[in-house]
Amino acid sequence: MKKDNAAANDTAVITGGARGIGRAITLALAAKGCDVVINYSGSKEAAEETAKECEALGVRAVTVQGNVASEEDCAKIVETAKKEFGKIDILVNNAGITRDGLLMTMSEEDFQAVLDVNLVGAFRMMKAAARMMIRARYGRIINISSVSGIMGNPGQTNYSASKAGIIGMTKSYAKEVAARGITVNAIAPGFVKTDMTDAMTEKAIETIKAEIPAARAGEPEDIANAAAFLASRDSGYITGQVLCVDGGMCM
Ligand code: NAI
Repeated sequence: MKKDNAAANDTAVITGGARGIGRAITLALAAKGCDVVINYSGSKEAAEETAKECEALGVRAVTVQGNVASEEDCAKIVETAKKEFGKIDILVNNAGITRDGLLMTMSEEDFQAVLDVNLVGAFRMMKAAARMMIRARYGRIINISSVSGIMGNPGQTNYSASKAGIIGMTKSYAKEVAARGITVNAIAPGFVKTDMTDAMTEKAIETIKAEIPAARAGEPEDIANAAAFLASRDSGYITGQVLCVDGGMCM
């Protein structure tokens, strides 16, 4: 039975759901009773481990390898959800990469590669899932942006362009599907400790931390809690929004 205000029995697809923020979102949705489709690109073991943790919470979990930079793979991810669960209620576009460098020395290839995964990847996934969600007249789409897309960040012209693009795309698609029971929102995390930020120097981390009013780095669970709310029925009248989960960085 579908509970009115929860996501129990919903099916959620999470791209890059095996690690970091994606893993935390996957587990938060599983804890709410969602069956989950965990997409991964290279981390097979991490995906299987996350799936086991979800199953221990009493839901069904499947893993699916796929590169969101490929239209074919995005179709495969959506097909997996359709075959296993017959529907997609929740789509979380979390997969993301960085290829940082100053603009003057950044190759066009590094610029394009980041756009292709972070921005076009989310477009491909929304497009692949669109028919199913529109037919069901229900959907919750959550696109993971970044404070870099709002404030900019030196060394991240490619990344911040992709994350700002996510925001514009989120608002446009939100307007296209709002009357069909589908909400499309973005979350802009601040600084969160994951593999993505592991490569940063202590000095860079201290500089960023000094800009966080909450005076601490974010945990993947901070982002997951916000995603779980936007994925629920409680958030049905919220669409086209950007929720900064950043300890106050973006105020
Ligand atoms: P992460 O590097 O731990 O996770 C990224 C995930 O995306 C991994 O599971 C990876 O396998 C997957 N992925 C990468 N390329 C892929 C592709 N082509 N196809 C499918 N999956 C792919 O990093 P983190 O921090 O967990 O990042 C998750 C999201 O949060 C990203 O979109 C990132 O840009 C965003 N974000 C992270 C922040 C942070 O401080 N960690 C801050 C703001 C946004």
